[in-house]
Amino acid sequence: MRVTLGEGSTPLLHAPRLSETLGLELWVKWEGANPTGSFKDRGMALAVSRAVERGAAGVVCASTGNTAAAAAAYAARAGLRAVVVTSGGAVARSKLAQVRAAGAELREIDGTFNDAHHEAQRLADQEELVNVNSINPDRIEGQSSAAREVLEQLGGAPDVLALPFGGGGNTVAYSRGFGETQPRFVLGEAARRCDTFASAIRIAEPVHREEVRRVVERCAGEVVSLSEKRLASAWHALAREEGIFCEPASAAGLAAVEAAGLRDALVVCVVTGHGLKDPDAVR
Ligand code: F0G
Repeated sequence: MRVTLGEGSTPLLHAPRLSETLGLELWVKWEGANPTGSFKDRGMALAVSRAVERGAAGVVCASTGNTAAAAAAYAARAGLRAVVVTSGGAVARSKLAQVRAAGAELREIDGTFNDAHHEAQRLADQEELVNVNSINPDRIEGQSSAAREVLEQLGGAPDVLALPFGGGGNTVAYSRGFGETQPRFVLGEAARRCDTFASAIRIAEPVHREEVRRVVERCAGEVVSLSEKRLASAWHALAREEGIFCEPASAAGLAAVEAAGLRDALVVCVVTGHGLKDPDAVR
């Protein structure tokens, strides 16, 4: 059974004002247009479909919010139980609303995202739930569809693909999806990984650190460490210059492009989640 809410086929938007300011040709892959408002829907659709095929009773994940919202929605769609583990007080308001609305079980722990990850794995083993974090290869395979869409929409690979680096699963997924035609990956991570205001990427220890290192090494790319100020400034620019209102973490790709001082290149920034996810970030 294929479980779907109509994910994928998101717009690739030209960003004329930011292109001119930055001196490059900038395009935005707008992943906030997915059904639950983030790129996570791509991988979750496949992971939940496969869980159903295997006869699973339910799914479990740890999350900074978006994976949780996607797991809750797709599990509801499939008639499965969903358990979501979060670090208490660290998840944006609308994401919790999405989880609750879909009837998922929310377990808030007193610990970090990495602690939540361990708890999710423990629950997966103990309660025979399928873990739908990005250690589940179906998640990565599902998310790789975005790279194939970019190839099709652009008629080839861009010079540079820029995206946020939280746990690194999405970087691995794009690299898979691009296959033989790898762009240069420019990744933005929060310098303050433990307490950045970009709560979606508040992840001290990236699960896919080693794979990301190999992707970046192979394409002569880079990982740019971003101050809070740089992140906020790129986030504002997307909304004010281009009308693209995303959540703060989603602007990390653009912030990395700015910080790296790229010029005269065809750049695709993956903008990962909708601004309505985190209304409290806007002040
Ligand atoms: N952007 C958004 C909006 C995210 O929610 C995440 C990760 C990332 C970027 C980073 O992607 O981890 O593949 O490098 N969110 C996860 C979650 C951790 O639980 O929703 P990554």
